[in-house]
Amino acid sequence: MNFKGRSFLKLLDFTPEEISYLIDLSAKLKEEKKKGIPHRVCEGKNIALLFEKTSTRTRCAFEVAAADLGMHPVYLDPKSSQMGKKESIADTARVIGRMFDGIEYRGYGQEIVEELAHYAGVPVWNGLTNEYHPTQILADFLTIKEHFGCLKGKKLVYMGDARYNMGNSLMVGCAKMGMHFVACAPEKYFPNKELIKECQEIAKQTGAVLEFITDPIVATKGADVIYTDVWVSMGEPTEVWSERIKDLLPYQVNKRIMENAGKGCKFMHCLPAFHDLKTTVGQEMFDKFGISEMEVTNEVFESEQSIVFDEAENRLHTIKAVMYATLNAL
Ligand code: CP
Ligand code: NVA
Repeated sequence: MNFKGRSFLKLLDFTPEEISYLIDLSAKLKEEKKKGIPHRVCEGKNIALLFEKTSTRTRCAFEVAAADLGMHPVYLDPKSSQMGKKESIADTARVIGRMFDGIEYRGYGQEIVEELAHYAGVPVWNGLTNEYHPTQILADFLTIKEHFGCLKGKKLVYMGDARYNMGNSLMVGCAKMGMHFVACAPEKYFPNKELIKECQEIAKQTGAVLEFITDPIVATKGADVIYTDVWVSMGEPTEVWSERIKDLLPYQVNKRIMENAGKGCKFMHCLPAFHDLKTTVGQEMFDKFGISEMEVTNEVFESEQSIVFDEAENRLHTIKAVMYATLNAL
């Protein structure tokens, strides 16, 4: 394994063995943290956190993980840096790369984080782009391993807009780890054909199964995990809500869907989730469209089968593992 100096931009860049290694390292760091064993192996290093979109989990995970590893994080919010408006990505990368040991980027196109990594000269970590959310998948897979003992052969059904960061990344991750991935949505929400083809090639090596099914009852039968995400992602225009609600309401994760999957099935969501009216957007959508729960019902979200907060906690341990591995001689 050689991670030192490498960027973490998308799972396609890593082998199944490397992904497994990062998940196992996360579990080890999690155990150490629970036991109060310090692991300040990056003492004295500094990292920059560039956020062009908002965040709770990813930002907190990077900041807490940095502190646990002995590093100093500097957060740059969507408005307070020159990036993009007065300074190009290439110039920003070369400036920040001179001052910091690693850079996290959350923003829009995948090409931006790839360009940052090309010019920075230090590891760049993808904290979410429109196309991919790779640190989220590490947390999801650590969580699945904790609950099921392994990843291989597990059936994960992704309900909703599978063309975006979560659908794409879960499909790649499942293909890499020999899992059974099902995208369940109207056809126009399936991942793009080239990515499906690339994942099918990976699946030939790993024994993964990839399916694309429009019927939610057929798709979710016997699922180990049902996964969903918001119907409209950050950066998309608000006008798309009405079409999304119409198209994706039949794919809402509710009791009927969970019962169809079976008792052992777990519910997962990267969060934040619209499962009640306790958010401004949730309330707005209710006022406009009369819908009080969106991609998941409150009943499922709050049920015993829901492991969303284990998943959220694991963002910390997995992001820590990525920084640990890429900043040290692993
Ligand atoms: N899941 C996730 O990335 O959450 P944040 O948007 O809060 O970082
Ligand atoms: N698809 C969502 C994921 C949030 C973690 C978004 O991009 O907004």
